[in-house]
Amino acid sequence: MVFAPKVSQVFRLRSILPCRLFSSDSQSPSVIKSVAIVGQGLMGHGITQVSASSGKLTQVIAYEPKQEFLDKGKSRIENSIAKLVSKGRMTQEDANRTLGSIHFTTDMNALSNVDMIVEAIIENIDLKKSLYKDLNRVCKNDTIFASNTSSLSITDMAEISGRKEKFVGLHFFNPVQMMKLVEVIHTKYTDPLVFDKVFHWAGKEGIGKVAVKCGDTPGFIVNRLLMPYLIQAMLMVDRKDATVQDIDTSMLLGAGHPMGPLHLADYIGLDTCYYIVQGWVEKYPDESSFVLPQCLAEKVKAGELGRKTGKGFYYWDGEKVGKAVN
Ligand code: CAA
Repeated sequence: MVFAPKVSQVFRLRSILPCRLFSSDSQSPSVIKSVAIVGQGLMGHGITQVSASSGKLTQVIAYEPKQEFLDKGKSRIENSIAKLVSKGRMTQEDANRTLGSIHFTTDMNALSNVDMIVEAIIENIDLKKSLYKDLNRVCKNDTIFASNTSSLSITDMAEISGRKEKFVGLHFFNPVQMMKLVEVIHTKYTDPLVFDKVFHWAGKEGIGKVAVKCGDTPGFIVNRLLMPYLIQAMLMVDRKDATVQDIDTSMLLGAGHPMGPLHLADYIGLDTCYYIVQGWVEKYPDESSFVLPQCLAEKVKAGELGRKTGKGFYYWDGEKVGKAVN
């Protein structure tokens, strides 16, 4: 016999059965309203800023365990906002609202009740795993964890997080305030409703970026294409095929890129490039496009990390790039 419920039975059933069995409103993901960004470095401060300036959230928390790093993140946000105001891209009123809406803290307990954590700390898997264990203890059960890692395995982190169904990758681009893309990464464990929530949050109904979906593969989409390109430019430097300036000018004027590859590597941070590539070389020794250029290893060893230290492939004066080194 076919079960054909009457209208009144449907309403009764709807209140008994889990709402996922029903379509329309029950399928639309509920909305992320509060976030905490862990790590206020080059990426983290930008994520905090765009979250706050979207005006779509009830709470934005900026967290660093040390006051010194929290202050540095805050002053990066202030500088960026001042730049946007001076260019007429943000009103003074929005600037005040954005800054005033961020809660800066060194107390991890303040993160206990947020809908989502966005982790943007250094690319070190052991540090990240230890952080996720602490966060799992502090945060409520349904807090989503999202990692902004550029290259580490989302699955590896999800597995130790204590909440692997609520773990995603959320990869922003530098400078976060200007780059429109966000990659949202799922693993085999990710609950589809959790993924949808994060995807919506990243997009125009949330912080206003363009979100793309990707599986947990090394470098996701952008870095899988971009890093081998940067590596090839550095290998040209190693072989002395061409000068730093000529390599960059070529891609600027011959391929229409906004920055040449060595300028971009300095901009991203040579340490970041190094850790991404080194991790891949170790994990995927048979992948021929993952190689560690000698000039990159030498510069990182010498502490010449590009924009952040004032010298890399170029000399830098704060945010301004200068002459190529030799
Ligand atoms: N906050 C606010 N405004 C900023 C800013 C910031 N942090 N950074 C730049 N701007 C603004 C500038 O004030 C300027 O505004 P106006 O147009 O109103 O004058 C505008 O952005 C353009 O900046 P510039 O004039 O200084 O220089 P530009 O025209 O070269 O643009 C750029 C800068 C947007 C960074 C551009 O060069 C570019 O798109 N470069 C490529 C960046 C890129 O590829 N990023 C991805 C790196 S990979 C990554 O991040 C992933 C990873 O995991 C490693």
